[in-house]
Amino acid sequence: MCGIIGYIGERKASEVLIEGLRRLEYRGYDSVGVAVNKKDEIEIRKAAGRIDELNEKLKFTEIEGKSGIAQTRWATHGEPNDANAHPHTDCSGEIALVHNGIIENYLELKEELLEKGHEFKSETDTEVIAHLIEEELKKNRSFEEALRKALLKLKGSFALAIIYSKDKEHLYFVRNESPLVLGVGDGEMFAASDVPAFLAYTNKVVFLDDGEYAILSRDSFTVKDIKTGKEKKKEIKEIEWTLEMAEKQGYPHFMLKEIYEQPQAVRDAIYGNAGNIDQIAREIAAYDKIFIVAMGTSYHAALYGKYLLQRLAGKVPIVEEASEFRYEAGNLIDERTLIIAITQSGETADTLAAIKLAKEKGAKVLSIVNVVGSMATRLSDLVIYTHAGPEIGVAATKTYTTQLTVLAMLAIALGKQLKSGESAYLTKLNKELQRVPDLIEEVLKHESSLKDLAEVLKDKRDFFYIGRGVSVPTAFEGALKLKEISYIHAEGLSAGELKHGPLALIEDGVPVVAIAPSGKLLEKMISNIKEVNARRGLIISLGNSESLRSVSDIFLEMPEVDELLSPIVYVVPLQILAYHLAVLRGNDPDKPRNLAKSVTVE
Ligand code: G6P
Repeated sequence: MCGIIGYIGERKASEVLIEGLRRLEYRGYDSVGVAVNKKDEIEIRKAAGRIDELNEKLKFTEIEGKSGIAQTRWATHGEPNDANAHPHTDCSGEIALVHNGIIENYLELKEELLEKGHEFKSETDTEVIAHLIEEELKKNRSFEEALRKALLKLKGSFALAIIYSKDKEHLYFVRNESPLVLGVGDGEMFAASDVPAFLAYTNKVVFLDDGEYAILSRDSFTVKDIKTGKEKKKEIKEIEWTLEMAEKQGYPHFMLKEIYEQPQAVRDAIYGNAGNIDQIAREIAAYDKIFIVAMGTSYHAALYGKYLLQRLAGKVPIVEEASEFRYEAGNLIDERTLIIAITQSGETADTLAAIKLAKEKGAKVLSIVNVVGSMATRLSDLVIYTHAGPEIGVAATKTYTTQLTVLAMLAIALGKQLKSGESAYLTKLNKELQRVPDLIEEVLKHESSLKDLAEVLKDKRDFFYIGRGVSVPTAFEGALKLKEISYIHAEGLSAGELKHGPLALIEDGVPVVAIAPSGKLLEKMISNIKEVNARRGLIISLGNSESLRSVSDIFLEMPEVDELLSPIVYVVPLQILAYHLAVLRGNDPDKPRNLAKSVTVE
């Protein structure tokens, strides 16, 4: 998991590269390295650490030269240290490359290369690629042909950026199961793992597909097929995201900025899909065998989707973590199966693997994705975009609430087609959904009291989050947000499960966050809360009824909203609470330890 970037043009490459890496840091941040093609040689500076601290020490931006490559790393093979930091080179130092992904057969390749006398300087899987190209070059091939032959030997996922000291006029890029996009400027070219890396310079992009490589010069790009070496026609697209959208806009952290963007993001999700949701619902209405697959926060959205599809459309989907899906459920798929894949990045390896399996078996795939042009969108038959805009904070916030929004829209649209008897209720629910952005605005006004609450709770060691029915995924998501960024142990539970084990852990002052919107399940929630009261646990409840207030130690009053839509609103204070707890405990909520925004390895 890493962010890579390459540049060729008239600017000082090192500055463009470092600037780009800052915007890719969300993809990984344990090591940084830059390679620039200089007059007589390639200059490399690299080390373990964060970009800004390393830039002071290694002065990346002092390197002169007009083309180069760089990487911000999140280790998979070889611990984060200076030697394992990218770029990696061949024995001669004439080839330098950076990589995002995993070379599955690298040990085998490394052995062969060692036998041929190659010397390795790192423990990474990546370094074999540089030596493989070097080996192919010995056969008197052009650099391009040597590269292609080397690529044919690789198994696994790889996005690569490569420079060759004997060919200063070109940069080489490769995509196979790891993201890579080209940026087309005026007399300059870019390529990176993600668009914000070069958005300051151009919004004209070319998305590479798996199995393609690109050769960039200052004023042209050529894309070819790895297998055949034949040129492929690619379309230049214009991206509407501005750089400003991808920056913090005055907030101390991206996460907080993104929490505050939720009213707009949910509005965009609604407007962006109002015109196509009925058509999508029509295309999937006949399917009865439905799996919803996702990971992490998107998995919690999947659980919400299941609840709504059951309740509003009479469908009974099976929800599976994408990483587990393949083992058994995968065997049950056929042409009559619908797979709904939820992934904000559209690049999560586990989810992509589930989609690919489903496609192989002839199933229909609908994906719910935030990143336009990402792999999931290209593999799917149908796509619903969440329109949340770029999300930089590792902990998902606005991509989650927009996933919930489009799932609610889909369930309502399906319900209208399949359950005509409920059309009045569905119309009312649809109207209520339009109000959700305003309700989130209201909740956001309570940030300061949530910050005060975080002060009270900051030294607690364990948290429990409980909910019933449609609020169970909210309990899971509240707990996940807390552990991800504050590093406090937290568990999300269905409230009914509490007395079957976890209640043994409730003692004086243990915080239990109860998600208890008014509705038919409130009474049962109150009974569960009383079980916690009896053990002197600290009840922090979210809801809007007096009966709930009376059993709570801390009551967070929520706006009135239909219970089925309440998860879109109720998760917001939980995000804010987790954010402030993280900050108070001295953590960087945007870059939680050991985690990455988009997990492109299985
Ligand atoms: C990582 C991120 C999570 C995200 C999960 C799934 O673990 O840290 O925030 O929920 O991947 O990502 P996806 O892009 O597929 O939604």
